[in-house]
Amino acid sequence: MSDAAIHPPRSPAEIDKDRRTWIAITCGAGAVGGAFTAVPFVSSFAPSERARAAGAPVQVDISALKPGEKLTVEWRGKPVWIMRRTPEQLATLKQTESQVADPSSLRTQYPTPEYAKNTHRSINPEVFVGVGICSHLGCSPVDKFATGAQPSLPDDWGGGFFCPCHGSTFDLAGRVFKNKPAPDNLEVPPHMYLSDTVLLIGEDKKA
Ligand code: FES
Repeated sequence: MSDAAIHPPRSPAEIDKDRRTWIAITCGAGAVGGAFTAVPFVSSFAPSERARAAGAPVQVDISALKPGEKLTVEWRGKPVWIMRRTPEQLATLKQTESQVADPSSLRTQYPTPEYAKNTHRSINPEVFVGVGICSHLGCSPVDKFATGAQPSLPDDWGGGFFCPCHGSTFDLAGRVFKNKPAPDNLEVPPHMYLSDTVLLIGEDKKA
């Protein structure tokens, strides 16, 4: 029996889907690992492995997250970033408004929840919640919080995220800058607050 008979050829769409999943998981695993060393995760809030695999919502205690810090949790195999922005970082979002491709998050490829269709793209202006996967080909962008001129970034850089795969840049609300390979803003996952300091990622019935 030929190899083709054992493994029927797959369509380009199937292959592309697999590739994107692989890239996302590979990049995401690194991001999650980094976050656990930077910010302690409250393990009692972590769902069981079986629930996690089934895509269960993830509870996250953000009480220890200081202004300017970001942590990463895993939801449905994706890295989800939670960042507490400083007043200075929030102020940059007014400046980037005219520089980003979809300032009001109106595009529908990765629909932004209604409660995040605002300049800061979040429920609580301070706290950004976004999926750390580039909308171009699925790499995980890296933090570029230092401001000013630096390699691969404009001289007036106010802080944000940089995708090293093909150079897309995002502001501190995950909005993609104009004329970059990435077509869309970073996805905002469904989420809601269970209290002032506990977030639920993956469900927003009461948001
Ligand atoms: S995957 Fe991010 S720019 Fe291509």
